[in-house]
Formats: sequence, structure tokens, C-alpha cells
Amino acid sequence: MLKGKDIVAINDLSQDEIERILNKAREMVPIARAEKKSRLLEGRILASFFFEPSTRTRLSFETAMQRLGGSVITVTGQEGTSIIKGETLADTVRMAECFSDIIVLRHPREGAARLAAGFSNIPVINGGDGAGQHPTQTLLDLFTIKEEFNDISKLHVTIAGDLKYGRTTHSLSVALSRMGASLSFVAPPTIQMPDHILDEISGMGADHELSSDLMGCIPKTDVLYMTRIQKERFPDFEEYIKVAGAFRLDLDMLENAKKGMIVMHPLPRVDEVHPDIDPTEHARYFQQAFNGVPVRMALLSLILEGDI
Ligand code: CP
Repeated sequence: MLKGKDIVAINDLSQDEIERILNKAREMVPIARAEKKSRLLEGRILASFFFEPSTRTRLSFETAMQRLGGSVITVTGQEGTSIIKGETLADTVRMAECFSDIIVLRHPREGAARLAAGFSNIPVINGGDGAGQHPTQTLLDLFTIKEEFNDISKLHVTIAGDLKYGRTTHSLSVALSRMGASLSFVAPPTIQMPDHILDEISGMGADHELSSDLMGCIPKTDVLYMTRIQKERFPDFEEYIKVAGAFRLDLDMLENAKKGMIVMHPLPRVDEVHPDIDPTEHARYFQQAFNGVPVRMALLSLILEGDI
């Protein structure tokens, strides 16, 4: 039952609920493309609270709400809010509750979305909490993979880059493990996947390996999920410098890739996927970004209106 639910971590959703969201997202595609009109969420208001920079998550949530006839109130950054005067997150969330029907929150602190959900009587969706999770990114990642491949349990997915601070990789790894995919985690040792995620996926019996050899993993890979080194999350800039540019995927590196292998990236990218890859049959990252709209339309409609 998704109506009224908070979505803070991917494990807040059962497998059945994930399937329902992805199926509903498929129905939403023509509305997301403005080929069909909908007033499903007319009169509903989304409070879009982004206390960290965002292009895709904020704009796709706001587009999703508006494509369904709803409205949006937005905060970007703490500047211009009463947080600057000392107002707490709890009181900020209580105010959103006075003015809207659902909150999407991005916050630099891991755990902030769970805290907000505890204070709120309206649903809270985590739009990314520090180095924690990004569950709606995972839903659109799963949608993108499922549109390409029928059976996720037969796939080998290589997740490369900053696996320590890259929150999208945390929720995606958990979801893919639940669905039976095998995984390669490719990163320099200092920014490998955190132990708590490895423990969780080991507990599910997921077939996985840790590696620092991206080239060696490519030939067996069906989905190559590249990520940015999260410069802003390193407490020590010297440590960032040691791993900056660790993996740069270029056309030559795809020579031994499977014909149907897709390259995904949650974006923004810096230098880890060369633009020469953009026009190839492998690139899916721009389609992936678009998929954020139908997936978030599905999520908003199921949480606010239920399965109608
Ligand atoms: N993928 C993603 O979360 O992008 P933004 O930071 O631009 O929202």
C-alpha cells in the first residue's frame, strides 16, 4: 500500500511496490512527453525542499507534479528561509505540512530525510541525504534497466566510481541484489562500497566482487553504471586529489564490451564518461534522466491518490 507512505530508503518499498511503481511509470510516459494530458493531481501541492544543489531530481519532481496538474512550492538552499534565523529542520518540515500535501527533501546530512519523516504528518520522499541513499534515483535506474532487459536476475552490473560517498550506488546495489543481479564494485580501495552495504547484500546472498580494474570487468558486463567522484563530500581535499579522475571511460575502452551493454550514469558527470560515447548505442544516461519524470509521476500519484 503506497498511499500516504514515506520513501526514505529503497528498503521502505517491497518488491511488489517497486513493480507497481515501474508499471505505473510505463503508463505515465505519454503524459511525461506531453503527448497526453492529465489532471490527476489537480489541487495537490508538492513542497520541494532542496538544501543541496540539484538539476535532475528537483526539476523532474517539479515537472512530474505539473504534468499531472498539481502545483509546486520550492526552496533551493537555506538562504531565503528561516533556517538562517535558527529554525530547525523539524519546524521547517512542520511548516511544509501547513502549506502542502507531500514533501521531497534533499539534505546534505545523512539521516535527515528519516528525521523529517518522523516529524511530518504528510509523506516525505528522500531526494538524497548526504552520502546516505537516493531511492527515487534507484527507481528510475531500475526502470531504465527493465526497459532494456527483461530479467534483472540474469544481468551482470558493474558499478564504478565513488562508491563510498555516491548515495545512488548504495540504494541501487541493495535493489539489484534483491532482484538477483550479480555485481562488480569497481573503485579505488579508499572509496569502495561501505561495509554496511556489503554486509546487507551479502546477507541476501548476492553474487558480488570488489575490484579496481574497470577494463577487466567490461567484457562480462550488461550494465555499466558510472558515477562521479563526490568532491564535496571528502573531509580531506588531499584524499580527493588521490582519486580524482580514477576512472575515465572512453570509446576505446568499449572495444570489448558486449554489443547490448548499456552505459548509465546518474549525472552530473565531470570527466568519467567521455562525450564521444554519447552518440553510441551504449549510452543511456540522457534517457535515464528523462525516465525520472514518468517514474516520479508514478510515485507521486501512487502516494497521493493510491492505485487508481
Ligand atoms: N542524479 C541526480 O541526483 O542529479 P541531481 O543532483 O542533478 O539532482
